[in-house]
Amino acid sequence: MSSHIVVAGSLNADLVVGVPRFPAPGETLTGTGFARFPGGKGANQAYAAARLGGQVRLAGQVGADDLGNWLLDHLRSGGVDVSAVGRDATVSTGLAIITVDAAGQNSIVLVPGANGTFTPDRLSAAPIDWRSTRVLLLQLEVPLDTVVAAARSARAAGSIVLLDPAPARHVPDELLALSDFVTPNESELAALTGGGSVGGEDDLMRRAQSLRVRGAAHVIVKWGDRGALLVGDHVHRWPAHAVRAVDTTAAGDAFNGALAVALADGQSIEDAGHLASAAAALSVTRTGAQPSMPSLDEVHAFMN
Ligand code: RIB
Repeated sequence: MSSHIVVAGSLNADLVVGVPRFPAPGETLTGTGFARFPGGKGANQAYAAARLGGQVRLAGQVGADDLGNWLLDHLRSGGVDVSAVGRDATVSTGLAIITVDAAGQNSIVLVPGANGTFTPDRLSAAPIDWRSTRVLLLQLEVPLDTVVAAARSARAAGSIVLLDPAPARHVPDELLALSDFVTPNESELAALTGGGSVGGEDDLMRRAQSLRVRGAAHVIVKWGDRGALLVGDHVHRWPAHAVRAVDTTAAGDAFNGALAVALADGQSIEDAGHLASAAAALSVTRTGAQPSMPSLDEVHAFMN
């Protein structure tokens, strides 16, 4: 099967505990519940895109264990082609330990496991037809060398490269220059541009422009309940949708997955961001990472 969207990234089992508030160091809190969800930024974005009608292949690595089977089964059931996901019997499948507070905010501890073994060699051995790839979606939960190698292959084939610089870590200028769209949230933007916190819209623009000076063609800042902003040759604002958030986990993944589908379809970035904002808004009204991803019908109904 040729794939119009390729996602090269992580797969995690999310172990999620509800808390009334985040615990202080040394404090013991009683949780309000526990659930296990399929997650991982790469897998979430692949699943989100497939739910919206994208033809998606995910490349990554899981362990040869039950959690790996469970994650792959769930992705297949959502229509994601997982033929480029390898298995490594020497490590366990990636885990994310997530706490979600009463306001729907989360904090995450990652145990990369097999994600850390997704090397450039494994990527180049994976069955990916770059010539038929319209959009490559990348995040930063797998080794950076692999992310850069994927971006180089996609760029050489003329694909659109979308980089979600999450979780925040150092990003080399080469990777920014290989990216058509870089989509940080506020804290990732701050981390990529000297640290501190973003001090309002002027500062946000200045920081986004500095990523463009380093090579990124366009920067799209996901600004939570303030909407999203495109900073490129021109500036475009997408307003936020007012929804009641129960779990913000993977809202950024819903945004990126939707953006990829619309761009693979040939839509303008303005229309793509419109779809992405609606998909992200719907996702925060539901619990869990992949189970929170809306279908295309749901997003259209919401937008209307
Ligand atoms: O973006 C949300 C994801 O981040 C979770 O599913 C978790 O696995 C972490 O990778």
